[in-house]
Amino acid sequence: MIEKFFIYLTELSPKLKRGLWRWWYQLLAKSYQKPDVQFMNYGFCDLNSELGSVHLKAEDEPNRYCIQLYHYVATATEVKGKQVLEVGSGRGGGAAYIAGYLEPESMTGVDFAERHVQLSRQIHQLPNLAFQQGDAEALPFADNTFDLVVNVESSHCYGSMTQFVKEVYRVLKPGGIFSWADLRSSDQVEGLQQAFTESGLQEVKSADITQNVLQSLALLDEPRQNLIKTYVPSFMQHSLQEFVAVKDSQIYQGLQTGQIVYLSYVLLKT
Ligand SMILES: C[S@@+](CC[C@H](N)C(=O)[O-])C[C@H]1O[C@@H](n2cnc3c(N)ncnc32)[C@H](O)[C@@H]1O
Repeated sequence: MIEKFFIYLTELSPKLKRGLWRWWYQLLAKSYQKPDVQFMNYGFCDLNSELGSVHLKAEDEPNRYCIQLYHYVATATEVKGKQVLEVGSGRGGGAAYIAGYLEPESMTGVDFAERHVQLSRQIHQLPNLAFQQGDAEALPFADNTFDLVVNVESSHCYGSMTQFVKEVYRVLKPGGIFSWADLRSSDQVEGLQQAFTESGLQEVKSADITQNVLQSLALLDEPRQNLIKTYVPSFMQHSLQEFVAVKDSQIYQGLQTGQIVYLSYVLLKT
């Protein structure tokens, strides 16, 4: 029962699920347009020095844990000089980190919430960075376009994971890498693994990063609680606390008990 909220949102019919998440993210982008919030993920704490050192400019330090999740996902392969796509780019902070620090030739962020795309274009302006509206399940790109596709904490919103991975396969060049991280309830892990296996992509690496994410959530708890108390009307505070997984939320507790897991996969298009 503990992860009821998350399960409820991930087990709706594909059409309803897509519609509900789209409405939610459009609402979030409309309700809070300040440029200080650039990330919407749970972050990654470097517990076993998996990352090496991630040097950030002083202005990016407040977003260190969210950036570290991106660094962990994006550096699964060489990024410099590559054509990179992020699906579900949200408020654009991750795509801007990759474009600004990891030197891809081009970095494209796609999100189906138009308001997030507009916001991302306003906040992040770099010569190798572009944002456009698009659906993960029908990517608006030609076959064999990208060297790397990254996807961070977005795919639990999609109607069909199988259709999404099929699209990733299509837009990746041969030799290209798909690097993915997201949460799932423990009983959805088998279906997830099946979607990856059936896609034709070859698994290079997979990991359970739940502890890295939990530690990050604990460290982000106070600033996120403060942001909610300051800016969110009281009738919506509980929903937002669940959404950002504050310490006593059902999602946080689900991650602690193992009923929800946070996983990462790196897959190759041969
Ligand atoms: C939890 S946010 C994560 C955003 C970003 N990756 C980050 O880490 O800050 C999930 C994002 O996925 C986007 N999204 C959900 N369903 C999508 C779909 N079918 N196609 C493209 N983007 C989608 C949402 O609009 C939202 O911006």
